[in-house]
Amino acid sequence: MRLGAAGLIAAAALGCTAGAWAAELPEHLTGHGGPVKGITVAPAGDRVATASFDYSVIVRSWPSGVEQSILYGHDAAANAVAFTPDGRHLVTVGDDGLVLVWPTGGSGERREPLARLTGHQGKILQVAVSMDGGLAATASWDGKVGLWSLNPPAPLAMLEGHQGPVNAVVLSDDGTRLYSAGYDGTVRLWNVPERREVRTLVRHGFGINVIAVDEVAGQLTYGALDGGMRVVDLASGEVRTGFEHDRTPILALAESHDGRRIAFGDGHGVVTVVDTALGQVTQDFPAARGPIWALAFGPRDESLLVGGLGSSVAVWPLDPLRRPSDVATRTRAGGAPMTNGERQFERKCRICHTLSRDTARRAGPTLHGLMGRRAGTVDGYPYSGALTGIDLVWTAETVDQLFEQGPENFVPGTKMPLQKMTNARDRADLIEYLKSATR
Ligand code: HEC
Repeated sequence: MRLGAAGLIAAAALGCTAGAWAAELPEHLTGHGGPVKGITVAPAGDRVATASFDYSVIVRSWPSGVEQSILYGHDAAANAVAFTPDGRHLVTVGDDGLVLVWPTGGSGERREPLARLTGHQGKILQVAVSMDGGLAATASWDGKVGLWSLNPPAPLAMLEGHQGPVNAVVLSDDGTRLYSAGYDGTVRLWNVPERREVRTLVRHGFGINVIAVDEVAGQLTYGALDGGMRVVDLASGEVRTGFEHDRTPILALAESHDGRRIAFGDGHGVVTVVDTALGQVTQDFPAARGPIWALAFGPRDESLLVGGLGSSVAVWPLDPLRRPSDVATRTRAGGAPMTNGERQFERKCRICHTLSRDTARRAGPTLHGLMGRRAGTVDGYPYSGALTGIDLVWTAETVDQLFEQGPENFVPGTKMPLQKMTNARDRADLIEYLKSATR
């Protein structure tokens, strides 16, 4: 659901016009070490939180963009984050299937959530929190919708009905109705107190990735795997308006806080903004180089925050639309052709590891000085017990075995994701490259 009156009043209380406010916006929110999967704005409009592939969640002040705290608690990519309506807690979910509840106060680095809730058997793509702050709902690839109490944090129930992964959930303002969507191409309505499915609202021929519900306007909006963007009448299920985009999957969706606009983000970096009352596309622009995984309207609907493959969030002022200047991108010195080993590293490792002395907020520790280093010994990096608890030195042979067998087999319990490299030549080239690049 959208922020509603509380957010608008809080934003208005800050006492400047949308235009003046837009002038002070940051152009980019940097700080993550990997792609950004989720963005959310606090109900009071004073903070923004982002969830990343680098396993962390960053909370910042808005509009300054200054970082307040960074939360490390997930053992895999963090996919989504939601504030409780009073702004005092955050709920985060990730590929590790965990639901973490955090206090938002304080600054700096935090590693201890208030609660770690388990129950899902697969990754969790999305989380929604009810307006009274008492309930959270999660969408998981285990095919279930999770219900969790937030005060005190505890699992409540698992709703089963979808045929396959569940991608999205929305709770009604009073928390009694829940909407879920998934790969089976359906949007389903659930009765929360009775823990039962009421009916299927939408049947789309392809998987549905994202949804938004506006019960006041009586409409449901969704984006699907085949590029379909639809605004549907909640009562009848009839399509009010529909758009198509080159059959490129729609991966992200955001509602403006005033309820008038919906923004879609697709697999090729295009943002489409729709005026829901007019049923028309009002803006349509390439906003990112790769897929867009995360979208949110700024607190006063003055901007659109866009996250994806790059590790920074681009802030696009909307009225009028203005392109943020390009973030400095990494360029290769000299333009020498890459060796196969370097290419292996760039494609398979760079997103989670640096080669410089510091770890720079990547999901994994720096590989600097790797050869001859004991496993699990980079200072300050939060290893899993799998790596700190073993007697192992990284050498050409052990790194080779790590990727021949796959991390999960070679070091059981590690949080490095399973990725085997079956091609012996690629492994040998990668190791040759690492020998010199990590020195
Ligand atoms: C999706 C993120 C991700 C990718 C991709 C990734 N790693 Fe990792 N890696 C990690 C994490 C997280 C750890 C820490 C694991 C733990 O604590 O259990 C790790 C640990 C390691 C370690 C052990 C380091 C130590 O200090 O003991 C090595 C070696 C390593 N990775 C090499 C690689 C190489 C080489 C590649 C590319 C082929 C790669 N990783 C790709 C996330 C990743």
